[in-house]
Amino acid sequence: MKIERDAPVGVFDSGVGGLTVAREIMRNLPSEKIVYFGDTARVPYGSKSRETIIRYSRQIIRFLQEQEVKAIVVACNTASAFALDAVRHELDIPIIGVIEPGARIAAQETRNKRVGVIGTEGTVGSGIHAEYLKKLDPEIKVIGKPCPLFVPLVEEGWLHDPVTVEVATRYLRELKEKEIDTLILGCTHYPLLRSTIGQVMGEGVRLVNPAYETALELGRLLKEQDLLSTGKQQEEFPYRFYVSDLADKFKEFANSILPYDVEMTQKIDIEKY
Ligand code: DGL
Repeated sequence: MKIERDAPVGVFDSGVGGLTVAREIMRNLPSEKIVYFGDTARVPYGSKSRETIIRYSRQIIRFLQEQEVKAIVVACNTASAFALDAVRHELDIPIIGVIEPGARIAAQETRNKRVGVIGTEGTVGSGIHAEYLKKLDPEIKVIGKPCPLFVPLVEEGWLHDPVTVEVATRYLRELKEKEIDTLILGCTHYPLLRSTIGQVMGEGVRLVNPAYETALELGRLLKEQDLLSTGKQQEEFPYRFYVSDLADKFKEFANSILPYDVEMTQKIDIEKY
């Protein structure tokens, strides 16, 4: 099969959070077109089982393939943790997740070999970061902490609110006590809390944003496979957004965080796929 280099990149997440990944792709690879799918009807993924997340991911991938994407980015950390290995070999286009790029940078950055990981219950419980990090450096100790309340706080827009600072202080206490020097923001929403998390953890802790590292990884992968867009094919909507529910609410959130005016959002029936 010949992959079309000017085709869009497919990006998916359980909802709005993956827009932090789409945003980094827009900033770092401005010639790339994007088809984004947010599973707003079935969010959250973080508290669901591996089997369910694999089933959802397969449906979304079928939808994205129908949109003729040239590559897929699993922007959701939970879906990357649970489904990426299962679906990778079923595809004839490249697919990447957000776990590996974040883990790789954390392994490079840590000096004292104590790395913290925060994410959903699913992601932290999967132990996937420790798996990757130990492969890169068996001496690294990984300390995980699920922070489920961060997602609703971000969606409420309480990025710098005292309540959020209090919640962060309680969640992150253990990681501070264990003297980590590097912290992976292992959930789509957490980069939006970067300044609050940074304030709580203090200056000595390097925060790793997997969304940014994934955009760079995507660029390397497309270049390697000769799939970087030529930028010559202009389209009315270079970025298209699909959701499984509440398209208007999605659009509002998207417009609050993207460096792009989101006009096209469409609801589709994902259960059909
Ligand atoms: N997108 C999810 C993740 O990165 C967070 C929200 C959810 O639980 O669905 O793990």
